[in-house]
Amino acid sequence: MHVPFLDLKAQYQTIRSEVGPAISQVLTDAAFAGGPYVEKFESEFAAFTGTAHAVGVSSGTSALWLALLGLGVGPGDEVITVPNTFMATAEAISMAGARPVFVDVEAETCTMSPEQLRGAITPRTAAIIPVHLFGQTADMGPILEIAREHDLPVIEDAAQAHGAAYRGRPAGSLGRAGCFSFYPGKNLGAYGEAGAVVTNDADLAGRLRMLRDHGQSRKYHHRLIGWNGRMDGIQGAVLSVKLKRLEGWNEARRAHARSYGELLRDLDGLVAPREAAGRRHIYHVYAVRVGGRDWLMKRLAQADVHCAIHYPVPVHLQEAYAFLGLGRGSYPVAERCADEFLSLPMFPELSDEQVDFVCAELKQALAESPQVPCAAVASGALVH
Ligand SMILES: Cc1ncc(COP(=O)(O)O)c(C=O)c1O
Repeated sequence: MHVPFLDLKAQYQTIRSEVGPAISQVLTDAAFAGGPYVEKFESEFAAFTGTAHAVGVSSGTSALWLALLGLGVGPGDEVITVPNTFMATAEAISMAGARPVFVDVEAETCTMSPEQLRGAITPRTAAIIPVHLFGQTADMGPILEIAREHDLPVIEDAAQAHGAAYRGRPAGSLGRAGCFSFYPGKNLGAYGEAGAVVTNDADLAGRLRMLRDHGQSRKYHHRLIGWNGRMDGIQGAVLSVKLKRLEGWNEARRAHARSYGELLRDLDGLVAPREAAGRRHIYHVYAVRVGGRDWLMKRLAQADVHCAIHYPVPVHLQEAYAFLGLGRGSYPVAERCADEFLSLPMFPELSDEQVDFVCAELKQALAESPQVPCAAVASGALVH
């Protein structure tokens, strides 16, 4: 049975009757760059995240970068984040002129360790960016508390967390700003590149609106040095159509995660992801932890089950960040995540038969595997 990692074509078939006319209307109105369809989506997405303002931008990377600029972060500053994230989180910090400072993650959720965060704050710290990895928020209670003690803004990297929640509060609404990506493969994905920053801070929202549009307060009057970071009209229209379905899609992902969890329970040498108490996981990625991951991935591909790795190299070990001088062993939990994570097929349209097939093939593959134990299990850091 063919099981793709992600199937955007299947999703398109479920919305084509609505998304086609929506795009067509943007073409008819020639509302291409910013404009009414972006504004409509912004107000819908602000409501969805329970925030006062959403500012549509050109990507999740732009969202992070502009949020940092909007908060005045720049050269000489340090921004604390985690190494097991997509490169964009650190890149945004660097492109703002600041220095990324990494802290390790908690073994259970692989999100920012509040304890490590506390120890990393210096007089140069200007902001904190926890990453809501794979669709589960970081432990925001203690993170926000530490930030408050030091009067530091928290920017949530919610690029993978549309509809996730922490103690009932939506991801993105917890810090000073929440940054989202609408890259096509995300739970809420555009038909091109797009992102958004959400905030309850009206001044910040105003600065972000200028920064994404060459610092203009009105046409050809530039109060700030900004950039072209606008969202385009087609993406706004597509995202409005898709946002209405997001809750249903997230629920479908959660149901698949429950099935995976049941079918993979008590499997020797494998740790399935879990929803931490008080959090709502929306399973953008369903990553199990296994030893011999690369072998298993190849073996599953032979059975036509296609997996992915998020992410094989933690950011501090990327060549681009070699200048930071952070070698292997600097962040042991994050490094173990990079070695052991295997992302199984996960998308709303996945069928029960496909989930069963993936689990049967994975069990078979584990039985045949040259038995490299999962270090997270072997070390006692995690239990089934
Ligand atoms: C955690 C994280 N941060 C930031 C980004 C960047 O978003 P984009 O690809 O829309 O620029 C992504 C997207 O892949 C992400 O997963």
